[in-house]
Amino acid sequence: MYQTLLTSLENGIFTITINRPDKLNALNKQVFIDLNTALDEVYTNKEIKSVIITGSGTKAFVAGADISEFSSLTLEQSMALAKAGQDTFFRIENSPKPVVACVNGFALGGGCELAMSCHFRIASDNAKFGQPEVNLGLIPGYGGTQRLVQLIGKGRAMELLMSAGMIDAAAALQYGLVNYVVAQEDLLTKAIAILTVINTKAPLAVTKCIESANAVFDENKNGFDTEVKAFGFCFETEDMKEGTTAFLEKRKANFIGK
Ligand code: COA
Repeated sequence: MYQTLLTSLENGIFTITINRPDKLNALNKQVFIDLNTALDEVYTNKEIKSVIITGSGTKAFVAGADISEFSSLTLEQSMALAKAGQDTFFRIENSPKPVVACVNGFALGGGCELAMSCHFRIASDNAKFGQPEVNLGLIPGYGGTQRLVQLIGKGRAMELLMSAGMIDAAAALQYGLVNYVVAQEDLLTKAIAILTVINTKAPLAVTKCIESANAVFDENKNGFDTEVKAFGFCFETEDMKEGTTAFLEKRKANFIGK
C-alpha cells in the first residue's frame, strides 16, 4: 500500500515509519503522498487511538526534504511545494488523535519541521536537530520558521535558522524541543508507555486538548474562547458523565469516545 512508509497498528497505536534509509529518509514527493494516505487512515480509522512517527534505521529520523527534487522549480512550483508540505504538516498538527515524533537520529530541515508538527517529541541520545536550509540558499518552507520560534523561542530559533547550526539531543531537551531523551533502543518503548496512558483517557477530551492548545498559535482563533466552547462540548459527552460518575463511584472509567 505504501512505497515509502512502514506502518503497524498495535493496541490502538499506529506507528508510521518513514522508510528510505539509504537516503536518510529524505522527504520526496512519494513520501508526502504516502504520508497523506496514512493521515487519512489516522483521521478515519476508529481503531487508531494515537500515532507515532519515526524514521527507519538508526542514523536518521528524516534528513530533510529530498534535495534532488529541488532543481529547476519555477517560482510557482516552489511555492506550491512549500504550501503542500505545510498542508500535510497542518494535518499532523491538527490530528484529532495524539501524534508523537520518535526522533531516532538526524532531524534536519523538513525532518525537524515534521517533528515539530507532531504534538510532542521524544529523542534518542544520538538525535540531532537543525534547519540547515541557508546552506542551500534556502529557508525552511514547511512551517519551520514558525514552529521553531513557537517551541524554543525567538532568539534561539533565529540563531539556528541563520547559522544552519545543529543541536544535539541534550540541547534539544534543554530548549524544550523534546520532552525526553532516551537510549535508541528505548525510544519506541518510551512513546508507547506515554501513549498507552493517553489512550485510556476520554478520546474526545484528548481531541479538545489538542484543539485548544493549537488555538494559542492560530491568529484566527481566540484560544480562551476555543477553550470555553471545548469545555462545553465535553460536558455534553457520554464520556464526561461516565468519567465523573466513575470518580464518585470510586471505579475506573470506561470511555467509549462519545
Ligand atoms: N535529500 C536527498 N538526499 C539526501 C538528503 C536530503 N536531504 N540527506 C541525505 N541524503 C542522501 C545522500 O545524498 C546520500 O545518498 P547517496 O548515498 O546516494 O549519495 C545518503 O542520503 C547518505 O547521506 P550522506 O550525506 O552520505 O551521509 P553523511 O553521514 O555523510 O551525512 C548528513 C549525513 C545528514 C549530515 C548529510 O546527509 C546532510 O547534510 N544531508 C542534508 C541535510 C539538509 O540540508 N537538509 C535540509 C534539506 S532542505
